[in-house]
Amino acid sequence: MQDVESLLNRHVRQMQPYAPIAPLEVLAERLHLPREAIVKLDANENPYGVSPRVWEAIRNADLHIYPDPDQTRLREAIARYIGVPAAHILCGAGADEVIDLIGRAFLQPGDALLDLPPTFGMYRWEADVCGARYVDVPRRPDFSIDVETVIAVARRERPKLLFITNPNNPDGSTIEDDALRELLQLPVLVVLDEAYIDFSAQPSRARWVMEHENLVVLRTFSKLAGMAGLRVGYGVFPLKVVRHLWKIKQPYTPNVAGSAAAIAALEDADFLRQSVQRLVAERQRLTHVLAELGWLEPLPSSANFVLCRVRLPRPIPGFEGLPAGRQLKLALERYGVLVRWFDKDGLRDCIRISVGRPEHTACLRDALVAIAASL
Ligand SMILES: Cc1ncc(COP(=O)(O)O)c(C=O)c1O
Repeated sequence: MQDVESLLNRHVRQMQPYAPIAPLEVLAERLHLPREAIVKLDANENPYGVSPRVWEAIRNADLHIYPDPDQTRLREAIARYIGVPAAHILCGAGADEVIDLIGRAFLQPGDALLDLPPTFGMYRWEADVCGARYVDVPRRPDFSIDVETVIAVARRERPKLLFITNPNNPDGSTIEDDALRELLQLPVLVVLDEAYIDFSAQPSRARWVMEHENLVVLRTFSKLAGMAGLRVGYGVFPLKVVRHLWKIKQPYTPNVAGSAAAIAALEDADFLRQSVQRLVAERQRLTHVLAELGWLEPLPSSANFVLCRVRLPRPIPGFEGLPAGRQLKLALERYGVLVRWFDKDGLRDCIRISVGRPEHTACLRDALVAIAASL
């Protein structure tokens, strides 16, 4: 028998796996801490969770029946919420599934995907899954987009897809209208990922899709509605694109519980508004707390997380020789506080902290003060 691995697609054999966040139980066990003692600020989840109406909807959902493959009620509810006709909307098991659908629909081995790192890692993963060429134009040190270079590289490399995250993950910066309009002139499909737009003062560009044939806007219930575990996201597409995506989408995502939950979440607008207001207020408090320490430089953010440069006066005992961000991430873990560190260019001296509840900020501050005292 031939080695079975040799039968795999070469690009799949060669690709790096995506590095997702470990589940809470696994982290608690690794840190020898009870689950309740962990302050989880590493995955931009919404600590206010779901509205009571969502629980009610899940309780009443017909879980023994397959979901509506046309997502009729869910798409209508979203259409009312974002002010775009339902025909433009397609939902998936998280925005992640929608990214995967776009990749599968547009990319063949050899095609190019243009990315603007540092940013969300799923776009690169998608390029790898499809055997596509991954072309990148790194953001400037302040994380703004170098529009001129993007245009020059796009002309040279002829990518089919350009991913723009707005607000960007991991820093929370946004793209202005003029820059976006300029990039929309390119002969590419621009995928604008608005996973965090609800926390920004900037309005969504979902309605722009009706004027731009080459724009897709992605949204998710994970952050806004506290539904990361239920996996519901969607894309707003030009009609010419969406009709092809329906053909390649598996029929039964999102599932019945997720769909019912998402509809109920949108019906409880007060809950969503309150959750966003609390997180935006806490983002400001968190930024202030971090800046006050004197050795952390939080960046202004329009999302539910804050990226922070770490300027340690001395190495943290026990972690000498590691990048500053990694030292702090590991030191915080000892206090049960989880934050995100990225082993990526431009980010090794940074940590990303999700905005939690006020009591989470207090735990984080206590841990940081204790760490500073140990230096
Ligand atoms: C920019 C961005 N897009 C999409 C997602 C994934 O969203 P979902 O949970 O809907 O798959 C994330 C998750 O962290 C993200 O940061």
